[in-house]
Amino acid sequence: MSNTTIQTVVFDAYGTLFDVYSIGALAERLYPGQGAALSVLWRDKQIEYTRLISLSDPSPQGSRHYQSFWDITRLSLRYALARLGLAHTHANEDALMAQYAELSAFPENLAVLRTLRERGVATAILSNGSPEMLASAVHSAGMSELLDAVLSVDSVRQFKTTPTSYQIVTDHFGLTPAEVLFVSSNAWDVMGATWFGFTTLWVNRQGLPPEAIGPAPHHTGRDLTAVLQVLG
Ligand code: LAC
Repeated sequence: MSNTTIQTVVFDAYGTLFDVYSIGALAERLYPGQGAALSVLWRDKQIEYTRLISLSDPSPQGSRHYQSFWDITRLSLRYALARLGLAHTHANEDALMAQYAELSAFPENLAVLRTLRERGVATAILSNGSPEMLASAVHSAGMSELLDAVLSVDSVRQFKTTPTSYQIVTDHFGLTPAEVLFVSSNAWDVMGATWFGFTTLWVNRQGLPPEAIGPAPHHTGRDLTAVLQVLG
């Protein structure tokens, strides 16, 4: 595929630009021996709730069942604690939620974003995250000056992977989907983005197998430097 048509690079947030490792580390400190299980179940439930809501009422006007990703994240934490039989305290809940506001960038990310800026390539985030949690994460990761737009699905009250959620990007930049390079570490997000028509890059940081249903992403890499290789 020729990459000469790529006009802008759009990133997923959590796990792609922002390293969520600190959340798991704190979970392990608060619940020794259960940190990994809690983090995985929490994340899975968080994404499951977004899909439940989007599937139940995916009207173009936005879902009646929509709740902000911040609220969904808090509620899915409570579920995960209950499911694992772990004690829920407001102090622990607040501490774990606060981690979402204090995330670091993955080591290579700032350099990649700076290079894109030097080359004049427009960049943005498209995330399920609510605007407030994205704003604090962007600031905490030192990306405030390196992104042209921080787009939240909150504006359409639907979550990825609905087409309406991805369309936020094409509407914002006035581009066709194929002119956007969409970059995510989440295979499901890359799948939805590929179905939507974006040119896609899966940053497979964890060395996971490809999804068994297709189509495959247009590009795959191990970290964010793959963006520069795709653009050539
Ligand atoms: C996001 C999550 C799903 O940023 O990673 O949209």
